[in-house]
Amino acid sequence: MPSEHIQQQIQDRILILEISRRDRKNALNQAAYIALIEGLDEAEINSDISVVLIKGQHDLFSSGNDIKDFLNRDPNQEPKGRVFLKRIARFRKPIVAAVGGDAVGIGTTLLLHCDFVLAANNARFQLSFVNLGLCPEGGSSYLLPLIAGSKLANELLLIGKPFDAQIAKNAGIVSSIWTPEEVMEQAHQLAKELADKPLDALLTTKALLKKSFQSHLNQTIDEELVEFSRLLNTPASTEIMSAFLEKRPPDKSTFNLMK
Ligand code: COA
Repeated sequence: MPSEHIQQQIQDRILILEISRRDRKNALNQAAYIALIEGLDEAEINSDISVVLIKGQHDLFSSGNDIKDFLNRDPNQEPKGRVFLKRIARFRKPIVAAVGGDAVGIGTTLLLHCDFVLAANNARFQLSFVNLGLCPEGGSSYLLPLIAGSKLANELLLIGKPFDAQIAKNAGIVSSIWTPEEVMEQAHQLAKELADKPLDALLTTKALLKKSFQSHLNQTIDEELVEFSRLLNTPASTEIMSAFLEKRPPDKSTFNLMK
């Protein structure tokens, strides 16, 4: 299903998925996730596509899940954000990401499943889940300590403050840092370099690189989703998200409730 918020284009054997919803800071809604999932599905089976490039614009990647969608979710439907995370974690072809500006929540988590992440020096990442009364998703509670070390992972996931491209590089989230003017072109060049290689060799190498941790990653994603769904229904999370949309500070009297 096409989404006006995800622009798709095939060029040089690269499927380019561009997040484009500037008035909501590129927040991802259900239709955007469906378009991303369908893009990945198509890229995986289409032998004319070797590589996926995920990007926003040079000054904005994504403000994460649409907060209104979190509050208005249908309890009888699996949220598409979850389906997307499971899909990208199992995607078999190489993924390159180009990030400039804000990359919040799933806007950062999804990068852990990209094989190369090129960031502009204006990029600002944030794993803000705890601040929303939520917990990590997309396997980040497993992958981040693995690639960043536990102390840096604690800082990024338990404090949840924004961090810059250099810290993201130190944490193993980012591969290389560019200026905002360079980052999109560099990401395209890298994707093109990958797309010129024999596809079977690329797929086999990616599978081998992920073999030692893929099954634990899949298991963690499922476990996180159980907790994430539970926390979404807590008074603290509902209050924090309502407060964000109403542009007021949250009432903290809900914060000390435990399961
Ligand atoms: N979901 C829904 N709407 C969002 C959004 C999101 N994730 N992020 C931003 N918006 C909306 C804002 O409510 C605002 O709407 P308005 O024009 O009706 O006032 C508009 O987009 C612009 O956002 P604003 O906060 O004014 O932009 P900013 O440049 O000052 O800040 C961010 C940018 C990304 C830092 C900030 O918008 C933010 O923190 N967003 C929420 C991030 C988040 O918590 N995501 C969920 C992670 S699980």
